[in-house]
Amino acid sequence: MDVTKAIQERKSIRGYKQDPIPKQVLTEILDLSRFSPSALNAQPWEFLVLTGDSLERAKKENLECYAAGMEIASYVAEYTLTGVYRGRQVQLAKDLFQLMGIAREDKQKRQDLMRRGLRFFDAPAVILVCMDRSIYDGTSNQMSLADIGVVTQTIALLAVERGLGTCIQFQAAWYPDALRKAVGLPYGKEVILGLAIGYPDWEFPANRIQAQREPLDSLVTWRD
Ligand SMILES: Cc1cc2nc3c(=O)[nH]c(=O)nc-3n(C[C@H](O)[C@H](O)[C@H](O)COP(=O)(O)O)c2cc1C
Repeated sequence: MDVTKAIQERKSIRGYKQDPIPKQVLTEILDLSRFSPSALNAQPWEFLVLTGDSLERAKKENLECYAAGMEIASYVAEYTLTGVYRGRQVQLAKDLFQLMGIAREDKQKRQDLMRRGLRFFDAPAVILVCMDRSIYDGTSNQMSLADIGVVTQTIALLAVERGLGTCIQFQAAWYPDALRKAVGLPYGKEVILGLAIGYPDWEFPANRIQAQREPLDSLVTWRD
């Protein structure tokens, strides 16, 4: 598969088959992802791969935190959009609700979808992309957060090439302290985001999503 096709085919997958992913396949993806570029070649990424019991513990912990109304991580909670950006967020939610048959006022079903995300969409594996606290707490962590974005997209594209789907999830790190305890992540490591990963269930309605994109003309300014 060439890169163009992988980019065109990748989309967020929110429903998975239960087939496990061979460890060798996950290893190959992560091994190749190491070749992603990073600012000053810092390579500030580390991966914690959850399958089996550890994944079940993470899901249980997330759902318990949600049920208890626990406060979510401030960097997620404080990320609120306005203007056109908010418009795009609302459109995505509308599209997802429509595909899932969720009426706007159906709070229960909307919460079910939220819980589904906290269960990592029932993917057979989750890759937590983590960073050492020494970098995370540094004054210029914008650089390393950009690096995390780069390596995450690399993983997502390598996954597509292997017939796998992913959903990048900030929701994976809503409750970082609880998650840390559930999966045995040392205090010195910070979870930035997660990737649910597995073989897509193409029957799952939300997987029909085609998230809209802005036209190129509205994004690019050419200067001679
Ligand atoms: C950093 C990041 C965090 C995201 N967090 C979530 C999430 O918590 N839950 C979710 O359903 N999708 C999440 N997404 C997926 C976006 O909603 C999705 O990428 C966007 O709507 C574009 O759709 P596409 O991936 O299908 O092309 C996230 C994407 C990124 C890049």
